[in-house]
Amino acid sequence: MTTAAIIVAAGSGSRVGGEIPKQYHNLGGQPVLRMTTLAFARHPAVDRIQLVIGEGHEPLCRQALDGLDLPPPVLGGTTRQASAHNGLEALAANPPERVLIHDAARPFVSNELISRVISALDSHPAAIPGLPVADTLKRVEEHFVRSTINRVGLMAVQTPQGFRYDLIRAAHRRAAEVGVTDMTDDSSIAEWAGLTVVVVAGAPDNRKLTTAADLSDAEWRLSAETMLATGDIRVGQGFDVHGFEPGDAVMLCGVRIPHEYRLSGHSDADAPLHAVTDAILGAIGEGDIGIHFPPSDPQWRGADSAVFLRHAVQLLAARGGRLANVDITIVAEAPKIAPHVAAMRERLSAILGIKGDRIGIKATTSERLGFTGRREGLVAMATATVRLPWE
Ligand code: CTP
Ligand code: MG
Repeated sequence: MTTAAIIVAAGSGSRVGGEIPKQYHNLGGQPVLRMTTLAFARHPAVDRIQLVIGEGHEPLCRQALDGLDLPPPVLGGTTRQASAHNGLEALAANPPERVLIHDAARPFVSNELISRVISALDSHPAAIPGLPVADTLKRVEEHFVRSTINRVGLMAVQTPQGFRYDLIRAAHRRAAEVGVTDMTDDSSIAEWAGLTVVVVAGAPDNRKLTTAADLSDAEWRLSAETMLATGDIRVGQGFDVHGFEPGDAVMLCGVRIPHEYRLSGHSDADAPLHAVTDAILGAIGEGDIGIHFPPSDPQWRGADSAVFLRHAVQLLAARGGRLANVDITIVAEAPKIAPHVAAMRERLSAILGIKGDRIGIKATTSERLGFTGRREGLVAMATATVRLPWE
């Protein structure tokens, strides 16, 4: 059976407010819409994803879903019902057997929940996740209680809501034709059309981000989870020396700095990049740069040292780790480093994938003492702090 997922993301998020709709807010480094979309893209039973977005949100959507291979989004309508209907019609040319309709504003939907809804569709035309209501419910008018509602049998329902595609599309079409336009979820339309709707267990985590407080709670929870999941904090250090030889520029942190010498070495001799590479490798117990890139190997002659550093960053990422900061000290009488620090930081930020304020670049002379003082070469030292999952 083929299964498509429609993600409705055409709302304006008026209750959250802010410059951009809530589905494009960043949560733990990713836009909400990207998290939601990935939850479905990663589910093995979901064959296709159809996004429904708001008019004028195309650039935000492209940015949020950058790099994902998805069919083009369609535009939504003024109500959630109209948006879901547009999504259903977009699938009509190549109709799936089952469809899941999900709020973009529920990024914490789990694989298990998606599976529960899909499985229920084996034996029912419509299936929705629901949670028992825990609080006592009151009907209130103008701040005064009018009555208490017996909560036995009451459930709060979530998305994804699953349907046999042909049945829900027909129901949506009929509702639109006869002017029924005020349904806040798709199961209301199924119910209106006389379909049997089964309820499977919902998930408390699968909350809809509705208010600004929901977003800040989610942000807090995600960062707390990340911190707990990567509680193994380690520091590594690196040290590198390269001698000067006649030339016209040195490479430092990937930036070419005009000078009356060049640095001698097998690669481009970028000492600070080598020191940072060793610092990261050291922090994760992966030996040193010479083990990974032997100087005897001709393929590294004149190599851009960013290649070495990227390799260290990838090893860290493969372990589920994160780089917290790097701090570099360059010891040299000349050239003057300060005018190039901004460019060096920018370059490092791109290679390391961390913000500039997590990168320290400092320079000092050795007061004309020793080999650096005699301008025979320069020294680069670095430390790196990484966070790994505790094993
Ligand atoms: N939605 C939609 N088209 C609409 C209205 C809502 O696709 N015309 C989507 C929203 O983008 C959201 C989901 O339906 O993913 C649930 O709606 P809701 O939480 O109400 O989001 P908004 O309508 O954007 O928020 P608000 O009601 O606060 O403006
Ligand atoms: Mg709304």
